[in-house]
Amino acid sequence: MHIKSLELSNYRNYKSLNISFDENINIIFGDNAQGKTNILESIFLCAAAKSHRSAKNQEMIRIGSDDAHVRLVLTKKNIDHKIDIHLLNGKSKKIAVDQIPIKKTGQLLGLLNAVFFSPEDLNIIKNGPSERRKFMNLELLMLDKVYFHDLNFYSKALDERNKLLKQIIYDHTLESTLPVWDEKLTEYGKNVIETRERFIKEIYRHVRDISQKVTGGKEIIETKYVPDVKKDDLRKAIEDYKNYDMKTCVTNRGPHRDDIEFFIDGKSLKKFGSQGQQRTCALCLKLAEIEIVKESTGDTPVLLLDDVLSELDRSRQNYLLDNIRNIQTLITCTGLEEFVDSRFKVNKLFHVVNGNVE
Ligand SMILES: Nc1ncnc2c1ncn2[C@@H]1O[C@H](COP(=O)(O)OP(=O)(O)OP(=O)(O)O)[C@@H](O)[C@H]1O
Ligand SMILES: [Mg+2]
Repeated sequence: MHIKSLELSNYRNYKSLNISFDENINIIFGDNAQGKTNILESIFLCAAAKSHRSAKNQEMIRIGSDDAHVRLVLTKKNIDHKIDIHLLNGKSKKIAVDQIPIKKTGQLLGLLNAVFFSPEDLNIIKNGPSERRKFMNLELLMLDKVYFHDLNFYSKALDERNKLLKQIIYDHTLESTLPVWDEKLTEYGKNVIETRERFIKEIYRHVRDISQKVTGGKEIIETKYVPDVKKDDLRKAIEDYKNYDMKTCVTNRGPHRDDIEFFIDGKSLKKFGSQGQQRTCALCLKLAEIEIVKESTGDTPVLLLDDVLSELDRSRQNYLLDNIRNIQTLITCTGLEEFVDSRFKVNKLFHVVNGNVE
């Protein structure tokens, strides 16, 4: 799959932009704060229906404008598709696929598969568990519509149950309605856990293999899904925690507390890994994502590399570049030095200056 063209109007610092991409390697370069990441963000928006940096609609609309448009044309299995996203201030976004407005976000997901890699991905390893859940959720929602629905229903039930827990303090009779939400949490939560378990197994398979290759056999990185509660124990855990939940006014157990652990040669990467090892892990995760997209869709994703090349040493850079042949790649960078003596061919070059592209 590849993106043919992108059109932005009143998106971030772009008043209007219309560019077409090469099927292979595209470099987007420019000084800081010129709008390079904004281009990648708008593409990711077409893939996931949300910003990779969790920005609100309003933040993506050019300051001073009421609305913004992102229009993207992609080719998938030799057929062109058009995605049209209309961002409105204070309202939910409107999306059309091939000129037909869609009612539910889920209908967009899976059309464009993008893998986004930025230095912030180190946070997946370094930060708290919510970062790792976000990683699983973002990847899975593009690959698995059922997961998207399960997670949505789970999150809604969780919100409702938490709201109810706060009301019970004032009105004890409401306690009798808790089981309704316990039921829903269990139903959707089990599915969420099951899908995550499968996904991290897939990641494990690839990351183990890729990390060996990246490090020339020196280091093996492994991943492990750490569910807060095992699938079959969910209902009981929710029931067991009922009194504690009522005391704390939140739902304490369930997949909203899940985590992933990373190991390097059997040791915790978070606790013992060097900065470089953590970076290698982030790279392996992204390469694993590419493999998983290929296996599950039979097509290549579009790779968005935001400022990462300069962070990798030469051997890791080479490994990455060797493995993205035949994958449309958009690379942002501030300078072109890295490409002068590197072995790979740049097919198209964009220079970004203050919301304008040459
Ligand atoms: N809603 C908005 N309206 C207008 N301008 C915006 C909006 N949001 C962000 N910007 C501007 O966009 C620019 C940042 O864009 P972006 O993050 O794409 O930069 P960049 O080229 O990737 O920079 P760096 O090299 O530092 O990562 C800033 O100048 C910022 O003020
Ligand atoms: Mg940037």
